[in-house]
Amino acid sequence: MARLGTETAFEVLARARALEAQGKDVVHLEIGEPDFDTPGNVVATGIDALRNGWTHYTPSAGLPALREAIAEEVSRTRNVKCTADEVVVVPGGKPTIYFTFMALVEEGDEVIYPNPGFPIYESMINFLGARPVPVPLREEKDFRLDANELADMITDRTRLIVLNSPHNPTGSVLEPQDVRDIAAAIGDRDIMVLSDEIYSRLLFEGEHVSLMSVEGMKDRTIMLDGFSKTYAMTGWRLGYGVMRPDLAKYFGRLMTNVNSCTASFTQVAGIEALRGDQASVEQMCSEFKRRRNRFVERINQIAGFSCRVPKGAFYAFPSIRQTGWESKKIADALLE
Ligand SMILES: Cc1ncc(COP(=O)(O)O)c(C=O)c1O
Repeated sequence: MARLGTETAFEVLARARALEAQGKDVVHLEIGEPDFDTPGNVVATGIDALRNGWTHYTPSAGLPALREAIAEEVSRTRNVKCTADEVVVVPGGKPTIYFTFMALVEEGDEVIYPNPGFPIYESMINFLGARPVPVPLREEKDFRLDANELADMITDRTRLIVLNSPHNPTGSVLEPQDVRDIAAAIGDRDIMVLSDEIYSRLLFEGEHVSLMSVEGMKDRTIMLDGFSKTYAMTGWRLGYGVMRPDLAKYFGRLMTNVNSCTASFTQVAGIEALRGDQASVEQMCSEFKRRRNRFVERINQIAGFSCRVPKGAFYAFPSIRQTGWESKKIADALLE
C-alpha cells in the first residue's frame, strides 16, 4: 500500500477550501473540473429516473441502452465500428485506468507513460510493482509525445503504453500524424495501449484522432472516455472503457467484484447527455477557449513566466524556469 500514489490536486483543494473557511477569497487553479453545472436536460433526466424507480442494480457492464448509445457515439467520433459488447460502463474515468492495470500489468512489466502526466498512471505502475518508463513531453514540441522517443523506450518487457490527448496537465493535443507515428513505433508488437481520451470534446483547434482508428490498433487499444469533463458531471461518476469483447468481459467481471454496477439513475442521465441537445457542451468549450486566450496572454506578461497555448482540455502549463523558483514554492506562494 505504501507504493500507492495520489493526486496532489485534491490536497491543494483541501488547503484552498480551508483558507476559504477562514473567509479568504481563493481563485481555484488546482482541481481539474469544469466550474459549470451539469446541463439542465441531464439533471432533469436524472431526477426523473430517480422518481421512476431507477434505484436498483443494473448489469455490471452497464445498461444495454447506454452501452448502445456509447457505441454509437464512439463509432461516430472515432471513425471506427464500435459495438455495445465492446463498451464497459464504469463509475467515472479512473476505474478504466485501474481495471486496465489490474487486468494487464504484472510485477516487472514495463509501462510507458507521459511525463508530465496524470499522476494516477504512475501510481498504478508503482502499486503493481511494474517498472515506470516515463516518456518526456517537451515544451519545444508543444508537449506532444514524440514517437521517436517512444520507439527508443519500447523493449521486450513493455506491456502497456499510456497515451493521453488532449493532455492533462499541459493541454497538448496529438496531431493526426503523431498518432500514426505512434502506431508505427508500436508496430505489430503484442503491446496494449490505454488511450485516455477523457478531454476529446474539449478541443479548441484541430481534430481529435484516436489511436483506435489507425489500422490494426483497435484490438490493442483500451479507450477511456467519460462524462465528467464533457458534460460537467464529475460528481455523478460516469465513464466508460472501449475494448475487445474478450477483454470487456473481464472488465465487466472486475465491475462485479468492485462496484457491482454504476449508479443506475446516473446511467439513465448519461443516455440523455449523449443523445440530447449538445449546445451546452459547445458553450462550455467556447467559454474555456475565451478563458484560455486571456489566461495565457496575461500569464505571459508576468516576469519569469512563459506559457505555450494549449490546444485542448482546460489546463495551462506555464514554464517558471526564469523565476528561479521551485514549482512547489511558487504554488504555495500563489495560494497563500
Ligand atoms: C487525464 C485524466 N484521466 C482520467 C481522469 C479521471 O476522471 P474521473 O474524475 O471521471 O474519474 C481525469 C480527471 O482529472 C483526467 O484528467
